[in-house]
Amino acid sequence: MEETTVSSEFMPIPISEFVQGVTIPVDLYIRLGDEKFVMVGKAGAHSNVDQFKNYQNKEVAYLWVKKKEYYKITHQSITIAGIAITKKDLEGSKKATLITHSARAMFRQIETVGLDLETYNNSKLICDAVLGMVETHRSLTDLLGSLKAYSDQLMSHSVAVSALSVMIGQALGYEKKATLEKLSLGGLLHDVGMKALPPELLKKPLAMMVPEEIQLYETHSFKGMQMLQSLGIVPDDIVSIVYEHHENSIGQGFPQRLRDVKMHPLAKVVALADAYANLIIPNVNCPVPKNPREALMYIEHTLGIPYNREAFRALKRILEADRKAAA
Ligand SMILES: [Fe+2]
Ligand SMILES: [Fe+2]
Repeated sequence: MEETTVSSEFMPIPISEFVQGVTIPVDLYIRLGDEKFVMVGKAGAHSNVDQFKNYQNKEVAYLWVKKKEYYKITHQSITIAGIAITKKDLEGSKKATLITHSARAMFRQIETVGLDLETYNNSKLICDAVLGMVETHRSLTDLLGSLKAYSDQLMSHSVAVSALSVMIGQALGYEKKATLEKLSLGGLLHDVGMKALPPELLKKPLAMMVPEEIQLYETHSFKGMQMLQSLGIVPDDIVSIVYEHHENSIGQGFPQRLRDVKMHPLAKVVALADAYANLIIPNVNCPVPKNPREALMYIEHTLGIPYNREAFRALKRILEADRKAAA
């Protein structure tokens, strides 16, 4: 049995997240003391949920993996989701669940190791799956419903923004795969800068923040841009989406107070998708979300559409088509 004593090298995964009979791509450990880990499963072995349940009975809630190997778990989860997306007979809600599952793994990876090249590559793969899902997933309501079940708010929000951005982009007539990929990836990573903020701040509703806290919160667009730029390979369009996702058409956004004409065209789409997702997926600012139609009315009548008008009309068309399909 291999033992090791550096706890900072490990990260926990709740035992409840393991499914039966899957090849585990990394070595698994249990933690016996603060600095003591014992290997209980070798990379390449099949997961044995009975064995894991046994640990749970002994009040072991987590299995531990080496941080530097965690990306392999994310990668595997994405591969499974990617295969599932292509299956015609699989329900839309199951596909959405698999995608959110892999997105959760990816966000956990960002939390642990930051946004590195492995994570970025994994997020690109998730976007492929999101694009595949948007293509086959007729009902927007269905997709958003699957996301609501997750307690990881940033993750659910980001996947929703990614999918919504692609849908709005398509409804605007964007057809090139490269453009839709940028919308999807920009949408998925738009709030990545939040990971650089204190977690306590993110648990606080905006309305409860003091001015200094709001100022700090508003740095997340800039921080996200920096994180992406530091990777050195992220296309400028995606960097702009992340930097400008809180701008709006009337120049009242942040950080630059850009107006519609100055905004990056794809950022206009993601800004609307972001605002809309915030109204329909539960989050700290909106614990009781609106239904898709109410949220649209809210943007139109209460806010007076402070977003790009064409993008807004495109979103309206999507919902209209959804309503007709459901009728
Ligand atoms: Fe944001
Ligand atoms: Fe956001």
